[in-house]
Amino acid sequence: MAVLVSGGAGFIGSHTCVELLNAGEDIVVFDNFYNSNPKALDGIRKITGKDFKFYEADMLEMAEVDKIFSENDIEQVIHFAGYKCVPESVKHPLKYYSNNLRGTFNILETMKKYGVTKFVFSSSATVYGYPEKVPVYEDFPLSAINPYGSTKLIIENLCREMYAANPQWTFILLRYFNPVGAHKSGLIGEDPNGIPNNLMPLVLDKAMGKRDILQITGADYPTPDGTCIRDYIHVVDLAKGHVAAVKKARELENGCPAYNLGTGHGYSVKEILDTFQRVNNIDLGYTIGPRRPGDAAACYSDPTLAEKELGWKAELGIEDMCRDAWHFVQVRNSENNG
Ligand code: UD1
Repeated sequence: MAVLVSGGAGFIGSHTCVELLNAGEDIVVFDNFYNSNPKALDGIRKITGKDFKFYEADMLEMAEVDKIFSENDIEQVIHFAGYKCVPESVKHPLKYYSNNLRGTFNILETMKKYGVTKFVFSSSATVYGYPEKVPVYEDFPLSAINPYGSTKLIIENLCREMYAANPQWTFILLRYFNPVGAHKSGLIGEDPNGIPNNLMPLVLDKAMGKRDILQITGADYPTPDGTCIRDYIHVVDLAKGHVAAVKKARELENGCPAYNLGTGHGYSVKEILDTFQRVNNIDLGYTIGPRRPGDAAACYSDPTLAEKELGWKAELGIEDMCRDAWHFVQVRNSENNG
């Protein structure tokens, strides 16, 4: 019996594959490399010393999804595949709804066809919209503030409604805060295609000399140093959260719980940039720019439910996140040049 990982070559997917293999799980992986790199698959194999079945497949192609289920004994699914760029989703809502929703429908329908009823979903703290207070708890009101967030919320709602209608299903909704960092080997990490828009990939590009400007987008927020506060979580900790969720899905006969996967600590943009500079001995030469539209001043989790029910807790700190992220891009750069 295998765990099927959709989007397993991506940033969070590849780290999760490593932790699943390290935990002795059998995995089957698929990805269409839309925003990922086949090198991640070699990285997973090198780190773990284990092999697994991989399909280059698109979740929009029902026949491709069906083939994976027909050729393997799938026990449960972790669903990462999806578009995730917020500004792009604002420009192209139909593209986001079409891909993220239709792909998920195809996977769920195929699961139904093959009698697979355990589904771990890669959700996001974006489903809290602009939280009224922090820390954020799982029972806070949910809302979508952009098309990307809408697709996450619609899929969460679908899971809740499917569970209400068919209580033989088990859904686990994992709400990620801000995943950063990389595996300490430097063999896998965040490797987005195109121009990044999240903080850490922008920092890495600036540190590599690939971009001229790095700006803090707003230093006049009502926070201690004026810059926004987020709950950055090391991707290896996040990946371990998925191993805990897979075990939980196995234990639960049915259900649809949601868990915050964060550290519970908020760090400001300035603290992140200064930590990056200090641990990597790099001067980023950042400046202060105007606010980015749509940013909340502070967003961080209360992760105690995940600790209580999944037995999972983040262990790595922002120094590890900054060091490991930088190590990965250096390894990738030397491979590309070597
Ligand atoms: C963003 C998305 C969120 C998504 C998450 C995925 C938005 C509004 N939100 O979260 O829906 O789930 O990514 O990882 O896009 N910053 C700078 N300078 C920059 C870029 C960012 O100072 O050039 C600041 C931002 O103001 C923010 C922090 O860095 O305070 C983190 O930004 P980012 O990495 O984009 O994450 P979020 O906005 O928290």
